[in-house]
Amino acid sequence: MSLNIVAGNWKMNKNAAETAQLLGEIVNQMPSGKEVEVIIAPSFVNLSQAVQQLEHTNIQVAAQNMHQAEGGAYTGEISASMLTSVGVQTVILGHSERRQYFGETDGNLANKVDTALKHNMRVIFCIGELLEQRQNKQHFNTVEYQLRDGLFHLQKQDWQHIVLAYEPVWAIGTGETATAAQAQEMHAFIREVIAKSFGEATAQNVSILYGGSVKPDNAKEIFSQKDVNGGLIGGAALSAADFVAIIDAVE
Ligand code: PGA
Repeated sequence: MSLNIVAGNWKMNKNAAETAQLLGEIVNQMPSGKEVEVIIAPSFVNLSQAVQQLEHTNIQVAAQNMHQAEGGAYTGEISASMLTSVGVQTVILGHSERRQYFGETDGNLANKVDTALKHNMRVIFCIGELLEQRQNKQHFNTVEYQLRDGLFHLQKQDWQHIVLAYEPVWAIGTGETATAAQAQEMHAFIREVIAKSFGEATAQNVSILYGGSVKPDNAKEIFSQKDVNGGLIGGAALSAADFVAIIDAVE
């Protein structure tokens, strides 16, 4: 059975003081007794303080990106060992903003995945089509290729360290959400593609999150879909009340 997860991607928001404040508010308002793992991804510079502040809670901390090399002359980059050394065990890879604005390709994402797994990290791997691709009915193809190029070189046992986030690019930060039916349709397709290469059990066990303008008022319907195991939340993760309401919407 796949685990329910709600992850907050803070993107380039919140300085050190603001990070401490928002984390404090989230901790205070966390619903209890929910079968859901909560993950928060603040900026790199605030990861260490976030890990410390959340030490005695069930909330996990993730990085928003990572470099594929072990180390070396890569000015401005962050390695897997830098992350694990401050207690960060999860990394988001392949977010559409990284693909779109920072030229990340399926090829270098595959290398990043390998490096993360080598360091025993868990990967939240993002996939999703552009509006144009959906309009041209290329959305299934696009997502299948992103999956194949980024993850299909893995061994079956590696999949236990992978979480997927389906984020249609046209729904990110736009206020436009995929309908629950569109999300379900794509999530079921993703499981089918994985099952063909890695077997039914692997496909059923992987958590597939939906991302793209998830808000308190649409979360319940999206999360109630059979193949949706929670969400990757951007804008709404910057408000404790909204983020907590979204966590509460998990069945
Ligand atoms: P959004 O972002 O919730 O603001 O649409 C989602 C994401 O980019 O992960």
